[in-house]
Amino acid sequence: MSFYVTTPIYYVNAAPHLGHAYTTIAADVMARHHRQRGEEVFFLTGTDEHGEPVADAAHALGIAPQELADRNAERFKALAPQLHASNDFFIRTTDPQHEAVVQEVLSRVRENGYVYEGTYEGWYCPRCADFKAENEIDADRRCPIHHIELTREQEQNYFFRLSAFQDRLEALYREREDFVAPRSRYNEALSFIRSGLRDVPLTRHKLTWGVQVPWDPEHVFYVWFDALLNYYSALSYARESDLTATFWPATYHLIGKDILRFHAVYWPALLMAAELALPEHVFVHGFLLMDGEKMSKSLGNVLDPFAVIERYGPDALRFYLLRDVPFGQDGSVSTAAFELRYESELANELGNLASRTIAMAHRYRDGAPPAVALDPELDRDFAGLAQEVAALIDRAELTGALDAIWQRVRRLNRYVEERAPWQLAKDQARAPELDQVLATLLAGLRVLAVLLHAYIPTSSDRLLTALGARERSLSAARWDATAAPGARIGQLDALFPKSA
Ligand code: MSP
Repeated sequence: MSFYVTTPIYYVNAAPHLGHAYTTIAADVMARHHRQRGEEVFFLTGTDEHGEPVADAAHALGIAPQELADRNAERFKALAPQLHASNDFFIRTTDPQHEAVVQEVLSRVRENGYVYEGTYEGWYCPRCADFKAENEIDADRRCPIHHIELTREQEQNYFFRLSAFQDRLEALYREREDFVAPRSRYNEALSFIRSGLRDVPLTRHKLTWGVQVPWDPEHVFYVWFDALLNYYSALSYARESDLTATFWPATYHLIGKDILRFHAVYWPALLMAAELALPEHVFVHGFLLMDGEKMSKSLGNVLDPFAVIERYGPDALRFYLLRDVPFGQDGSVSTAAFELRYESELANELGNLASRTIAMAHRYRDGAPPAVALDPELDRDFAGLAQEVAALIDRAELTGALDAIWQRVRRLNRYVEERAPWQLAKDQARAPELDQVLATLLAGLRVLAVLLHAYIPTSSDRLLTALGARERSLSAARWDATAAPGARIGQLDALFPKSA
């Protein structure tokens, strides 16, 4: 079994922000979970370095585009480890190996008859590096995303014959209803296709900052085609041996809703034109909003992920973003909401549960987990939990899966209150009952820690170590007293200190 997950590659025209961290965290949760299942995993992220937005930003700073790209690519590269993202490679579209693949694949698209020369005229947003359809433009001719004035552009270009894929794309959406999710995004992409596909420019004439068109060196490829191909090119040079056969096609492309059309329409058409296999799923997440607006570099209302991580650590940020904003929908983020989740859920519900349980195991049983059967009362909540979580993550329902786990965190907290082990400990005759309650709590915590590994890897690891559990694979989330036999309980400092 192999699993290949990607994030969009980020524009290097400015520094990373929370919106970028968001997709990287989500992809990391999927990658880590699939590794726990014993699958062969490849997780790709990187930077999109060509095109007008980057050239314009460099120009404004009075430096060469490559210099700006080098500078900012480093910052994106540094973001991944700070988020504890376990990406297997970091692609830059200025890598010469990537450029060679772009030239090769797009030449094949041309040889296959899907490229022709023509004139393009339309309303263009230089920040999106995209022409806008008439129905996206309002009366004042501004970009709906960046609110800047659109420019009327006319140029001699090579075109990609997108219209040739009308029927095949409709068939794709008919046959594979899970190609794009959530359903609302599937519908949006399909209705765009049904409204009639028009050919799109494949090259730009006036720009020089891009991958050169091999059959006409006065042109560079339109940045989106160059960028999309990163998902494919990376596998050919990320390692010494070519990984394409193992990982292509991608299992999941995670993207934001603003780049749906490129991934759900252009990309499958391009792959068809190049005779390459299509990805299995495109999952579209919403925007993180602050004051009701999308956070973005160009709008300037940016919450700095580096600052959040420095104060609370990456686990807290990872948890908050996937817990508070249903993955797949828009959602507001704020410091107040973050602090509330941190205190009430991470510190109180999980942190206290863990420290109480471990303290009781030491106090009442000297750190040796009682070797007795688990309380059947919790069977219904815990027995099928790992499968339930896996099924949700298979559908990229990351908030749903986290919620399924969290319901059990709460269930265990209720269990402690109901059974009141401190009362049982007062009565020697009730020792077997206390054994069962402690064994059940320890097993429950172990299951939760294993399942939480994908979301909060550092805290999960600390908790598992304290529980004396060595196994991190999903099999250790079995609801079974023998899943971690004979382990001694260790010490645990507060998982989520309140003074953070
Ligand atoms: N370079 C292109 C992607 C090419 S992929 C072949 C691009 N880059 S971007 O840096 O502008 O955006 C990258 C991703 O970040 C997009 O999926 C976008 O939706 C996401 N986000 C940017 N701001 C965001 C929020 N405020 N909230 C959530 N995600 C948002 O587009």
